Amino acid sequence: MSQPLIIAIDGPSGAGKSTLGRMLARELGLLYIDTGSMYRAVALAVIESTINESDDVAVGSLASRIDIDLAGDPDSLRVTLEGDDVTDRIRDEDVTQMSSIISTIPAVRRAMVQRQRELGQRGAVLNGRDIGTVVFPNADIKFFLDAAPEERAERRLAEEREHNTNATYEQTFADILERDRRDTTRADSPLVVADDAIVIDSSGQPIEKVFERMMNTVHEKGRK
Ligand code: DC
Repeated sequence: MSQPLIIAIDGPSGAGKSTLGRMLARELGLLYIDTGSMYRAVALAVIESTINESDDVAVGSLASRIDIDLAGDPDSLRVTLEGDDVTDRIRDEDVTQMSSIISTIPAVRRAMVQRQRELGQRGAVLNGRDIGTVVFPNADIKFFLDAAPEERAERRLAEEREHNTNATYEQTFADILERDRRDTTRADSPLVVADDAIVIDSSGQPIEKVFERMMNTVHEKGRK
């Protein structure tokens, strides 16, 4: 394929987007852009500032001027905020919740979408909530990954337990449902399935199987 290949992976939290996005990017030699980590970096900047998260104008202006960078290959992607490595910090629970709140603000989304288009224009695997609908509506391939909320909560819990041994299934499950609600009901760019997306439910499926299916799709599209 001579044109840069753009692959969009959207879906709710815990559906396997980052694992599969990394695998695809590595296999295809493409840049991997985890757009959720950009919203998380904005959330951290808000937490570390005196700005109130309900002040849309101030949060939007902060989002448009802070320096967020994603560097490294798909397996060791580092996120920096104003030059500081925040890769681990942005996975903390307070940042997770804040990212879902500030990502409802249109000015924040505008700033992030613009950066994502610049970063991805030369070909990339991008994962998020609005990649196939808003960021790259003409993406070559659009996947929508989903899984049962119980299973997504189990996956998230396993990740959380790596740095928070007090995390409980009940709390993680409730948090997932709350984030699903916010991400799907916000007015600006809600999480929806793009008309031309390939929907994959990964419930009960080994990751390798899902990967194989995605790679088959990439090869089929490449032949057309
Ligand atoms: O994918 P994630 O869990 O790291 O994303 C964190 C939050 O960012 C999520 O609650 C919704 C938001 N987000 C978004 O609104 N649009 C994207 N393209 C990616 C993430």
